[in-house]
Amino acid sequence: MAVSTKPTVYVTRHLPDEAWKRLWEFCRPASWDFEYSPPSAVLRENVTDKAGLLCLLTDTIDAELMDSAPLLRVISQCAVGYDNIDVPAATLRGIRVGNTPGVLTETTADLAFCLLMAAARRVVEGAEYVKAGRWQTWGLTLLLGQDVHGATLGIVGMGRIGAAVARRAGGFGMRILYHDRVRKPALEVQVGATFVSLDRLLSEADYVTLHVDLSASTQGLIGEAELDLMKPTAILINTSRGPVVQTAALVTALKSGKIGAAALDVTDPEPLPGDHELLGLPNALVVPHIASASSATRLRMAMMAVENLEAGLAGRPLPYSVNAPD
Ligand code: DGY
Repeated sequence: MAVSTKPTVYVTRHLPDEAWKRLWEFCRPASWDFEYSPPSAVLRENVTDKAGLLCLLTDTIDAELMDSAPLLRVISQCAVGYDNIDVPAATLRGIRVGNTPGVLTETTADLAFCLLMAAARRVVEGAEYVKAGRWQTWGLTLLLGQDVHGATLGIVGMGRIGAAVARRAGGFGMRILYHDRVRKPALEVQVGATFVSLDRLLSEADYVTLHVDLSASTQGLIGEAELDLMKPTAILINTSRGPVVQTAALVTALKSGKIGAAALDVTDPEPLPGDHELLGLPNALVVPHIASASSATRLRMAMMAVENLEAGLAGRPLPYSVNAPD
């Protein structure tokens, strides 16, 4: 029987069939096929003899793991964010790291806007009210929400996804403020956004939507002081990373009415335990990190991750690369 010379890779979750089939064309994949991440010991054991790793944002890929995988040449993350990977450690070890930027921009912006609207118009509360058999009549003051059209939107982090949210806001006639590390004059003209300080954004916006990467400078960015600046009616939307918001401070702000509501796709901790205090609050809407979860986008993400893996195994620069180890 002929022995395969294809490189071996470990895949930390079940991939769409098309991506899985494509993998077999250039490597020998082994995979972890459960809903949750492989435990760290399982991950370590499985990468020891692998040349490639295709992982998700829930897998911790640190220096220790890399050291247990002496043959590892490429780490391909099936997500745009890669705060779960120690990229400098990979670079130091000559391991290429790739991600899946761009393809999920519009899908993620769709969900950010959907959360904004759902929280503004109390859509989930309304659906629960009907399901509970409480709908007796048309009520003049029943489930009153807030207008989205004409309101002020504050975008924190005007990258690809922030800009895509701004384009949607334009269609609703919103006034758009943004804050970023760097000012983006061309984009300001394109989407009609005004650059302001974070403090001004927080104090003037009716809706604050977060689109920053998770890094040392954005961890805990929204805490008590920032929530204090927001309007008592303001709605906070987070589709970036949970730890950008200080959860305890958010719970206090929601309970005391310091802000109006929060609509979260990401949380800290994540996943949020079913008995977490946030889930008992009527003004908190939480969904399970599904911003990029359309079938088409998830397939595109998986195919991009496979493309990165193939290039890395062949010793070529990755098409969607986050480091340059050589
Ligand atoms: C990402 O890709 O970083 C999102 O959080 C999940 O799609």
